[in-house]
Amino acid sequence: MIKPDGLSGNYTDRVKEIILDSGFSICKEMVVQLDEDTAKSFYAEHASNSFFPNLVRYMTSGPVLVMVLEKVNAIADWRALIGPTDARKAKVAHPYSIRAMCGVDSERNCVHGSDSPESAVREISFFFKATSSG
Ligand code: TYD
Ligand code: MG
Repeated sequence: MIKPDGLSGNYTDRVKEIILDSGFSICKEMVVQLDEDTAKSFYAEHASNSFFPNLVRYMTSGPVLVMVLEKVNAIADWRALIGPTDARKAKVAHPYSIRAMCGVDSERNCVHGSDSPESAVREISFFFKATSSG
């Protein structure tokens, strides 16, 4: 997912270029404006964290681009490509990562990536209804 600051900062084309150059296919994509309930539900695992209200405010501050990416080892490779959660750390330790390129801090970090097969299944079906053809 490209988060609101990624889309409003016009990083979409650059991020897609990196995705395709890194061997991923973009199977599905959709621009969505998350409302408060949807953002809370998407990030439900973080509901008890102190940063949750700010995270929800940020995630609803503008549209996001949701994508389904496909590749061998896609989950780990995408997480490596985006870099650490805190974009300030990314800029120091992983300067070529996507979060280093377009993120700001640990909240405004430009992109999201599923962290496990289970969360990928949940997050893909969260946005895209399953069809018989997959
Ligand atoms: P998390 O799942 O820990 O990170 P990641 O996105 O790398 O999987 O956290 C989810 C989001 O919550 C994170 O992308 C941004 C937000 N967040 C904050 O705003 N402040 C924080 O201190 C942390 C850890 C996360
Ligand atoms: Mg996470």
